[in-house]
Amino acid sequence: MGCVSRSCWIVFIAVLAMASSTSASLHLGFYRKTCPSAEAIVRRTVSEAVANNPGLAAGLIRMHFHDCFVRGCDASLLLNSSPGNTAEKDAPPNNPSMRGFEVIDAAKAAVEARCPSTVSCADIIAFAARDSAYLAGGIDYPVPAGRRDGRVSLDSEALTNIPLPNLTAAGLRDSFAKKGLSVDEMVTLSGAHSIGRAHCTAFAPRLYNFNATHTQDPSMDPAFAAYLKSRCSPSTVDFTSKDPTTVPLDAVTPRRLDNQYYKNLAKRRGLLFSDQTLQASRLTARLVRLDAKLGSVWAAKFAAAMVRMGHIEVLTGSQGEIRKMCGVVNNRP
Ligand code: HEM
Ligand SMILES: *[C@@H]1O[C@H](CO)[C@@H](O)[C@H](O)[C@H]1NC(C)=O
Ligand SMILES: *[C@@H]1O[C@H](CO)[C@@H](O)[C@H](O)[C@H]1NC(C)=O
Repeated sequence: MGCVSRSCWIVFIAVLAMASSTSASLHLGFYRKTCPSAEAIVRRTVSEAVANNPGLAAGLIRMHFHDCFVRGCDASLLLNSSPGNTAEKDAPPNNPSMRGFEVIDAAKAAVEARCPSTVSCADIIAFAARDSAYLAGGIDYPVPAGRRDGRVSLDSEALTNIPLPNLTAAGLRDSFAKKGLSVDEMVTLSGAHSIGRAHCTAFAPRLYNFNATHTQDPSMDPAFAAYLKSRCSPSTVDFTSKDPTTVPLDAVTPRRLDNQYYKNLAKRRGLLFSDQTLQASRLTARLVRLDAKLGSVWAAKFAAAMVRMGHIEVLTGSQGEIRKMCGVVNNRP
């Protein structure tokens, strides 16, 4: 993928430096000889899907995050549950909120038609997340590839590895540190919440049932809370509620991947507790202020942090397999 913007070049050089030093496991242009059209096919599929439904860009960026945080970026998130095993896909952090599975399946089918059993589902997720960042925010960056697909997917591991929206800044730091990501990377990646939506169940306790002394979260702007109460029924404080109502994560520019998210935090208009806590904690408030001020610097950091996230515990070489269909493991030989 070529570079047009300046921030893309900055990241490109950073990625080259990284590839030559710390992590030689993934490579830029991994499919150059074996499937030269792979990235173009994925980008075309994602572009068409996002043109029909812009929300899918958010879904696909989140999908890469949820894949990488559980057993590394190995497409374990895509595996279907089977008799006797509930997969990550059906764990509460993903079901019913995760969207975009059909886009990955379509991209995989198109890539398989051109180059059978060559391009992993895990790499397709990484490419699709990048393409989504480009479509929603003009943020483009080269993606080192060569990930292999895992054969195991357990709902319990999604529950223990994916951070909950009620975590404090310190809890978020610990969750990301376990995956080798820094506090700055955590704050930077949280900027993905400048697009997409959240179900009322993810934040309703902030409106109706905060803690023993406050029914409403005092860190939320009361006018914003009043608006959210008009959208979300009190019944959604029960996180098992099946209420499908959603609210945009960034009320100002809900479809634009930009640094507006950080500006919202300064106005106490972060939607999730895990968003607003970044502004409340000294650990992270300084970083929030910088990201709010310098959109282009945030965008370059976001690209670099996505690449770093894409390296978490990857399977490479002869590990894992190249799945033929992303929802099921290949038959054993
Ligand atoms: C910092 C810890 C994080 C927490 C606690 C968290 C939690 C959540 C929650 C609860 C939702 C709402 C899902 C729903 O109800 O539909 C959400 C949405 C989303 N998250 Fe995060 N998230 C975090 C970090 C990230 C990261 C690192 C990324 C990607 C780089 C990301 C990307 C997204 C996107 C794009 C959406 C919107 C999804 C859609 O519209 O389908 N999040 N997140
Ligand atoms: C967040 O919610 C989970 C489950 O709903 C609960 O077990 C946990 O104690 C909560 N954590 C915090 C920091 O409030
Ligand atoms: C409830 O939340 C407020 C504001 O965050 C905090 O000051 C207070 O200590 C909390 N009370 C309890 C009982 O946790």
